[in-house]
Amino acid sequence: MEVLRRCRGRKVVLAPMAGITDGSFCGRYRNLFGIVTLGALNLDSATLSASREMVKRGRREFLYNFDNFEDIVKKEVEKARKSNALISVNIRFRDFEEARDRIEILGRYCDIIELNCHCRQEEILRLGIGQALLKRENFETLRDFLKGIWELEIDKPIFLKVRANVVPVEELIDNLSKVERYFHGIHLDCFNPGRDYPDLDYLRGIRSYFKEKVIIGNNSVTSLEDAERMLKYSDLVSVARCLLRGKVRWIEEFNKKYKEEDYARH
Ligand SMILES: Cc1cc2nc3c(=O)[nH]c(=O)nc-3n(C[C@H](O)[C@H](O)[C@H](O)COP(=O)(O)O)c2cc1C
Repeated sequence: MEVLRRCRGRKVVLAPMAGITDGSFCGRYRNLFGIVTLGALNLDSATLSASREMVKRGRREFLYNFDNFEDIVKKEVEKARKSNALISVNIRFRDFEEARDRIEILGRYCDIIELNCHCRQEEILRLGIGQALLKRENFETLRDFLKGIWELEIDKPIFLKVRANVVPVEELIDNLSKVERYFHGIHLDCFNPGRDYPDLDYLRGIRSYFKEKVIIGNNSVTSLEDAERMLKYSDLVSVARCLLRGKVRWIEEFNKKYKEEDYARH
């Protein structure tokens, strides 16, 4: 729970949005978030090609040249540091061997490595990654990725960004329990198919099994009340789309309220 201490009492996290959450975007929010997330970054040629395809059909993605990877990371992280928050990076790759050196570079500059098990774009699913990593048939791949990152000994917490209801909660718990030594936190999008509110039962299931992990709850949090509801079953909450709508004030109020409560308790 070292990560939580280093969030300095701030309980809101900036979630990744491909093509949007770069260093400048993250750095714009000074002293607002506990963690800001860069990415998703593609770490191999297969995922970079997939992103190029997605851009062709109008989706925003981060495209860059691998020759300048370290320089780019250094500059983006420097800009993101203006947020005064921990810096997480959401990553995608299919070939661990090709991604290895780039994960090591990210480990040198970022504070948290977040493996993307969330993306549901067709181009990514075709590679058997993103949310496909949560399926039973891809469990070995997920295990090898996590074990591979762990064995790099980069000494940075490893998180998984996962989407609820891709598999039933019992199945996700069963899969993740077999690899729990390789990760420190779960960033859960409480995606609720066909509903416009988060699946808090799914989050409760994850929280009650993984008591020692840092849990970040995510989905449709746009107010102090939404955040408090989610924090019943998580350590932190994250936000994405509400920032695109400029809804930021409630986060300042939220930080103030919790700082004051902490202050009153000590
Ligand atoms: C434009 C856009 C791009 C996104 N890109 C990523 C991504 O690259 N990686 C990822 O893990 N999640 C990505 N997400 C998902 C968000 O991190 C978040 O889980 C989702 O939007 C639900 O949270 P919200 O209701 O606060 O928006 C993206 C979301 C949006 C809207």
